[in-house]
Amino acid sequence: MFKTAIFLAIVGCHYFYWCHGCLEEERTHLLQIKDSINYPHGSSLDDDWVEKDCCNWDGIECNSSRVISISLFSKREERLGAWYPNASLFVPFKELEQLFLGGNQIGGWVMPQAFSKMQSLRELRLGRNNLSAGINSLQGLCELKNLQVLHLDDNNLDGKALPLCLNNLSMLEELSLSENNLRSYSSALTALSGMQSLKVLDLSSNNLSAGIDSLRGLCELKNLQDLHLEKNNLDGRAFPPCLSNLSMLKNLRLSGNDLGSYSSALTGICELPALRLLDLSGNRLNDHSIPKCLGNLSLLEKLYLTDNELRGSFSSLTGLCRLSALGTLYLDNNNLTSLPICMGNFSSLERLILQGNNLSSLFGNSVPGLKRLLVLNLGSNLLTDDSISPWIYNLTSLTILELSNNTLRGSNTMRGFCNLRNLEELDIEGNSFECSIDPCFGNMHRLSTINLPHNKFRGTIPPSIFSNLTMLATISISKTNLMV
Ligand SMILES: *[C@@H]1O[C@H](CO)[C@@H](O)[C@H](O)[C@H]1NC(C)=O
Ligand SMILES: *[C@@H]1O[C@H](CO)[C@@H](O)[C@H](O)[C@H]1NC(C)=O
Ligand SMILES: *[C@@H]1O[C@H](CO)[C@@H](O)[C@H](O)[C@H]1NC(C)=O
Ligand SMILES: *[C@@H]1O[C@H](CO)[C@@H](O)[C@H](O)[C@H]1NC(C)=O
Ligand SMILES: *[C@@H]1O[C@H](CO)[C@@H](O)[C@H](O)[C@H]1NC(C)=O
Ligand SMILES: *[C@@H]1O[C@H](CO)[C@@H](O)[C@H](O)[C@H]1NC(C)=O
Ligand SMILES: *[C@@H]1O[C@H](CO)[C@@H](O)[C@H](O)[C@H]1NC(C)=O
Ligand SMILES: *[C@@H]1O[C@H](CO)[C@@H](O)[C@H](O)[C@H]1NC(C)=O
Ligand SMILES: *[C@@H]1O[C@H](CO)[C@@H](O)[C@H](O)[C@H]1NC(C)=O
Ligand SMILES: *[C@@H]1O[C@H](CO)[C@@H](O)[C@H](O)[C@H]1NC(C)=O
Ligand SMILES: *[C@@H]1O[C@H](CO)[C@@H](O)[C@H](O)[C@H]1NC(C)=O
Ligand SMILES: *[C@@H]1O[C@H](CO)[C@@H](O)[C@H](O)[C@H]1NC(C)=O
Repeated sequence: MFKTAIFLAIVGCHYFYWCHGCLEEERTHLLQIKDSINYPHGSSLDDDWVEKDCCNWDGIECNSSRVISISLFSKREERLGAWYPNASLFVPFKELEQLFLGGNQIGGWVMPQAFSKMQSLRELRLGRNNLSAGINSLQGLCELKNLQVLHLDDNNLDGKALPLCLNNLSMLEELSLSENNLRSYSSALTALSGMQSLKVLDLSSNNLSAGIDSLRGLCELKNLQDLHLEKNNLDGRAFPPCLSNLSMLKNLRLSGNDLGSYSSALTGICELPALRLLDLSGNRLNDHSIPKCLGNLSLLEKLYLTDNELRGSFSSLTGLCRLSALGTLYLDNNNLTSLPICMGNFSSLERLILQGNNLSSLFGNSVPGLKRLLVLNLGSNLLTDDSISPWIYNLTSLTILELSNNTLRGSNTMRGFCNLRNLEELDIEGNSFECSIDPCFGNMHRLSTINLPHNKFRGTIPPSIFSNLTMLATISISKTNLMV
């Protein structure tokens, strides 16, 4: 009987207007939040939050008339200065699962302990505010046993602000603390060791450099899959050997550190068996600092080595050739003069980025077998017709070919491109072509972009090609001698 009544009530909710729309009391509480965000004299949301049914308001989501999501990103007007909301404002929403208050100049909370009453909360995003250590602003969060996502990025937190009790958040799967200042008191990172469900941890841009031992607390996060440590001034010594216990780690992002010094410690990375993505860009790495054993990462799909000091002269780079699952390789902005011949044999490689090196040849005289290559970027190198002919015309899977700022010039090279039937983008800006555009360009049916400026082309673009290039959206020809 009782069950039937509930059933009827639910069916009623779906079929009759009287049950739709938000609860009057939740509407009132939302208006209090609006007043607070506008304190003392702002006008944010004044035009949006007027309708009777608050479930239709901007940033509000309901389920069966109850507010389950409040999303107020950058609603506090900048001129009003810091906002100190009373955390109790959010307590009355008994079913609230998501609370997003990013970018609102929150300087701290009145009644922060009220957070402990928001037991339904799953996601709390407080990034881009001004939360700092002084106010005990995070203590109340420790009791949110159901919290799965917590974003505190881009605040003013130092290590002291991370209360040990955060350890209690055993359901937490995603935590972002990027762009804070955890360097001081970074031993507080041990507070994270109890978060046994954590899968994603972002500690980028925290100047963690000083606390050499500070990463040790992370070794116990057995379920971690995605670790962000970019821009932290870390040198190789910051890697405690126990980090290789992170056997689930798939993505490791280490760009913008200083791993070139003490790089011997990088061998620990080789023991992360599940690694799929490794970003070592911007670390002043030279050929000697790439551990040979990186080739042991048999599941690695993406490797980023942009902005380093690699010259391609040392055998450690050939270690990389064992990466048989590699699909993406970034080696741009280094000092490479040639590539290890074996790199021409990557069988899964789809994206090879070599822009901004000193390459005058690639794989010596050997012919690459890059059968699956889709994107090849060779811009800003020292390549001549001889260094790319004729093998490049056999890379018929290519969709994007970038050859700007080299010294290509011949008409055979130009005709060779016409073999690349799948090409969608061709960039040969900034070369020394003196020939004319070959009519065979009409064979590249899929071309949508051709970039030609800064050459010395002669003649006109054969009008006949345009009837075939039905996808062509952009052809840029300024600063050439071409006429159309
Ligand atoms: C809505 O609430 C009901 C009952 O609490 C729940 O079963 C359902 O999954 C919820 N739907 C959504 C989209 O959250
Ligand atoms: C915060 O809100 C609660 C509940 O509305 C209220 O009882 C309390 O007095 C408020 N605290 C302050 C300092 O305004
Ligand atoms: C952030 O808080 C600090 C003090 O903790 C203060 O000096 C600074 O002015 C605040 N910044 C903004 C943008 O409110
Ligand atoms: C929460 O953390 C505090 C401090 O670490 C600890 O004393 C307390 O026992 C924890 N509570 C639970 C329920 O785990
Ligand atoms: C990083 O920390 C070092 C001390 O280890 C300090 O000299 C430097 O100013 C800090 N950098 C930033 C951006 O805070
Ligand atoms: C890491 O794993 C080793 C065994 O592989 C174990 O002896 C050690 O205690 C672990 N360290 C941590 C911090 O879990
Ligand atoms: C890499 O793998 C080889 C065998 O394939 C093994 O002998 C070597 O110890 C491994 N190196 C590391 C650092 O795991
Ligand atoms: C790398 O090349 C840049 C410019 O191409 C040059 O300034 C730099 O000295 C070179 N570095 C090394 C280590 O060769
Ligand atoms: C490339 O692969 C071919 C066979 O697929 C093999 O014969 C050749 O030795 C390989 N070259 C290198 C440099 O690994
Ligand atoms: C290009 O491919 C064709 C057919 O597979 C082959 O006969 C030819 O030798 C290749 N040329 C180069 C330079 O790889
Ligand atoms: C090519 O060189 C020009 C002039 O030096 C530069 O402005 C342009 O950005 C370069 N293009 C690429 C793709 O590097
Ligand atoms: C258009 O494409 C067809 C088929 O590839 C080719 O035979 C023809 O020569 C092309 N026409 C021009 C003007 O390029």
